[in-house]
Amino acid sequence: MKPLSPLWVVVLAAGRGTRMRSNLPKVLHPVGGRPMLAAVLETVQALTPVQTVVVASPDNQGALQRAFPDQAFCIQDQPLGTGHAVQQALPHLSGVPKGDLLVLCGDTPLIPADCLQEMRQAKAQTGSDLIVLAMGPPDLKAYGCLKLDGDGRVLEIIEAKHLDKDRTDVSNLCNSGVILMDGDRVVPLLDQLPHHAETGEYYLTDVVAMAVQAGLTCRFVEGPWQDLLGVNDRKDLANAEAQFQTQRRQHAMAQGVTLLDPASTFFSFDTIVEPDVTLHPFVTLGPGVVVERGAQVLPFSCLSDTHLGPDTKVGPFCHLRNRAVLHQGAEVGNFVEIKESTLHADSKVKHLSYVGNAQIGDRSNIGAGVVTCNYDGYTKHPTHIGQDVLLGSNTALIAPVTVGHGVVVGAGSVIVTDVPDQALALSRPEQKTINDGAKRFHQKKKGS
Ligand code: UD1
Ligand code: CA
Repeated sequence: MKPLSPLWVVVLAAGRGTRMRSNLPKVLHPVGGRPMLAAVLETVQALTPVQTVVVASPDNQGALQRAFPDQAFCIQDQPLGTGHAVQQALPHLSGVPKGDLLVLCGDTPLIPADCLQEMRQAKAQTGSDLIVLAMGPPDLKAYGCLKLDGDGRVLEIIEAKHLDKDRTDVSNLCNSGVILMDGDRVVPLLDQLPHHAETGEYYLTDVVAMAVQAGLTCRFVEGPWQDLLGVNDRKDLANAEAQFQTQRRQHAMAQGVTLLDPASTFFSFDTIVEPDVTLHPFVTLGPGVVVERGAQVLPFSCLSDTHLGPDTKVGPFCHLRNRAVLHQGAEVGNFVEIKESTLHADSKVKHLSYVGNAQIGDRSNIGAGVVTCNYDGYTKHPTHIGQDVLLGSNTALIAPVTVGHGVVVGAGSVIVTDVPDQALALSRPEQKTINDGAKRFHQKKKGS
C-alpha cells in the first residue's frame, strides 16, 4: 500500500443554519447526545491530521469556542458559500502544499472515519489529485450532482438547483460534501473560484471543474448514504438521530445485549453495555452510562452519567443521574431517583424514594418513600448510610447526617443527628388512641 500524505482538515460550520429555526448554532444540535460538531471532530481526529481548523461565523463563533475551547477556529465574516469558507481557512494552513487538504461539513454527524480513510487510500493508490466522497441517496434534490466521464473520473459537480429538470448528463451520485484535495496542485486553485451571481456565493464544488481544466484527475469513492446525509433542518436532525439509534441498537444486539423492543431503546454516543444485559422497552440511556454484565433495566427508566454494576436491577420508572453508581446486585425500583450517590453491593431502594449525595453500604434496605433531604436552598449536604441498615418507610434524613452500620430506623422518622452503629432510631409523635372515638365522631357529625 502506498503511504498516505500528511493531512490538513477544514470543517465548515459558518453557514447560517436558517432552516433549523434555532438560537442554537446548527452544529451544536445534538445527535446521540453530543453536538454534531463534536462527532465530526472526533472522527477527524482518528485520521491524526497535522492540523484541523473549523470555520465559524461571527454569530456562532462564541458558542462554538465555548463548546470546543481547545479547537482552532477561523472566522468567515459573511456566509458567501462553501468555497469562500475554505478560503478563509487557508492562511491558517501554511503546511498544506506538503500534503492533502480534507474539507468536510460540521453538519454530517454520522460520517464514518473509514470513508475518509478510504478517500486517502484512493488518492494515494490511483495517483489522483482530488477525491470526492460520493453517495447515492434516494432523494438527490438537496445535493450537488457528480458528472462523470466513461472511466469513472469526476468532471464536475453541479448543484441540484442549477440542473435542468430532466437531470440529463449527470450521474445518480451526489456530493456528500467531503472533498480531499492535493495540497500542492489543487489547493492553489481555490483562490480563483468563480462567483455565482444568482446566489451570491463561491462554491467549493467548482474546484472540481477547475482541476479538470488544469489537466488534473478527480475521482470519487462512494460511501453509505445513510451515514452521509447532511442535517439542514429538524427533519434531517430526526433522521440522523434515527440512523444513529439504528446503528447502536444493532451493535448492542450483536454484542450480546437483549433489547426487548429495540425501537424504544435509546443510546448515546458513549454508552457501554456489556453482554447479557437486558434492556426493557422505553429505556433512555443518556451520556455517560455503563451497564455491566447481567444487569436489567426495566421499562420507562431514564439513566445518564450512571454506572450499573453486574447483576443490578433498576426500574421500572426510575431516574438515575449525575454519578449514580450501583455496585454488584444493588436494586432500584419504581419511582426512585438516584443522584450523585453510590449504592454498595446488594443494597436496595425499591419504591418511591429520592437518594441524593448519599453513600449506602452493602446489603442495606431503604424503605418506601425514604428521602435524603440534601439541599438547604444553598448547599448540597451528604448522607452516609452504613452496611446492613434498615431504614423504615418514609424516613427523612436531614443531611449532613451519618447512619452507622446495622442501624434500624423506625418508619416515619425524621433523622437529624448521627446514629451510632447497631442503634435503633425512632422519632415519631406518640400515638393517641381513643376507644370508641370513631363512633362518637360520626354521631357528632350526623347530629349537627
Ligand atoms: C453542500 C454542497 C453540495 C453537497 C452538500 C452535502 C456546495 C456548494 N454544495 O450543499 O454539493 O451535496 O453540501 O451536504 O458546496 N458553510 C459555511 N459557510 C458558508 C456556507 C456554508 O461555512 O458560507 C458551511 C455550513 O455551515 C455547512 C456546510 O458549509 O456546514 C455546507 O453548507 P450548506 O449550506 O449546508 O450546503 P448545502 O446546500 O447542503
Ligand atoms: Ca448541508
